[in-house]
Order: sequence, then structure tokens, then C-alpha cells
Amino acid sequence: MIRIRPYALSDAPSLFEAVRESIDTMSAWLPWCHEGYSFEESEVWVKSQVQAFKEGSEYAFVILSESERFLGGCGLNALDLANARANLGYWVRASARGQGIATEATRLLIQWAFQNTPFHRLEILAATGNGASLRVAEKVGGHREGLLRDRIRVRDQVQDGVLFSVLRTDPRAL
Ligand SMILES: CC(C)(COP(=O)(O)OP(=O)(O)OC[C@H]1O[C@@H](n2cnc3c(N)ncnc32)[C@H](O)[C@@H]1OP(=O)(O)O)[C@@H](O)C(=O)NCCC(=O)NCCS
Repeated sequence: MIRIRPYALSDAPSLFEAVRESIDTMSAWLPWCHEGYSFEESEVWVKSQVQAFKEGSEYAFVILSESERFLGGCGLNALDLANARANLGYWVRASARGQGIATEATRLLIQWAFQNTPFHRLEILAATGNGASLRVAEKVGGHREGLLRDRIRVRDQVQDGVLFSVLRTDPRAL
């Protein structure tokens, strides 16, 4: 059993530790995660996300185990209120992968989003080479809409991305 909750200012040390152990396997897919990632970056980011959540400009969540271990993060960003649409993202620390955590956290986030925001459509965009992320998008019931050419930066190149959507009206959405 896992749970998700919004970030608190006290999460910076756990976030930093989880990111640091994941850099080798995460930096290709998430540009903010880089070799020199510092504690200060964790602090600044957590602070900005606590504020953004309050303002409703982004919704970032911590993923926690039953014993409150920091397992990773997920959230809604690139909010497009005019079209009731948001991007949904996720990551799991290297030592906790392959146990269904991203899938479960994403399901919880989808439920939260449709219960607490006006969004009608959530989008998941994964690079064609990111097999684990593509699989998570499929497992949560994402509808595979198509291949977007040169859509995602992966290290120093742009690559094709696969776009998935989950709608409020999808049978498995709530
Ligand atoms: C993508 C990520 C979040 C998955 O986290 P996770 O907790 O391990 O995910 P889950 O265990 O819920 O599911 C992973 C699925 O991908 C599969 N998988 C793992 N590596 C894979 C690969 N290289 N190719 C294809 N499938 C793969 C697993 O077998 C599993 O599917 P299954 O349940 O059918 O066996 C994690 O790998 C991660 O943090 N990656 C780096 C950040 C990232 O890429 N985020 C997404 C950006 S779009």
C-alpha cells in the first residue's frame, strides 16, 4: 500500500536523497535531474511546489510507502485551464522500481485530479525509448493517441514521444 500527498517544506532532504540515488537512471528522461543535482535545488523546488499547490498553478505529490519512506513523486503540470487539460508526470526512486509503485501512484493521482480539479483530460507523454514509462501509461488505462515527432528532449537530443490520455469520462478513471 502506498499513498500520495502534497509536498511539505520538510520533504527536501528525502527528495534530495531519492534523486541522488536515481541520477544514472533518471537524468536521461527528466532534464531537471542532472549529475550535479544539489540539496539547494531540492529545497528551492519543494518551496516552489508548496506555493504552486496553494495557488493552483501545479500539483506535485510525494509518493510514500506504508512506513512513510519517500518513494518518488508524481504530479500535474503544464495546466491548461482553458481546455480543462493537464500533463501528468511520475518518477520512482531507483531502489523502489519494479513493484508497481508508479502505476499505483498514478492511479491515485488520476482519482485525485478528477475529484479535486476541473480537468477533463490528463495527458501522459513518454519518449519512445522509455519502456517503463510507456508501460505505466498503458497500465493505468491511458489511451494511446499517437506518436509525436521530435517532441521530447532526451539528454541533448529531441526524440519522438507517445501521447496517452485519460479522460474523466473513461470507465476506469475514477
Ligand atoms: C517510469 C518509472 C516511473 C516506473 O516506475 P515503477 O514503479 O518501476 O513502475 P511500475 O512498477 O508501476 O511499472 C513498470 C512497468 O514497466 C515495465 N518495464 C520496466 N522496464 C521496462 C523496459 N525497459 N521496457 C518495457 N517495460 C519495462 C515493468 O515490467 C512494469 O510492467 P509490468 O507490471 O507489466 O511488468 C521509473 O522507471 C522511473 O522513475 N523512471 C525514470 C523517470 C521517468 O522516466 N519518468 C517518466 C517520464 S515520462
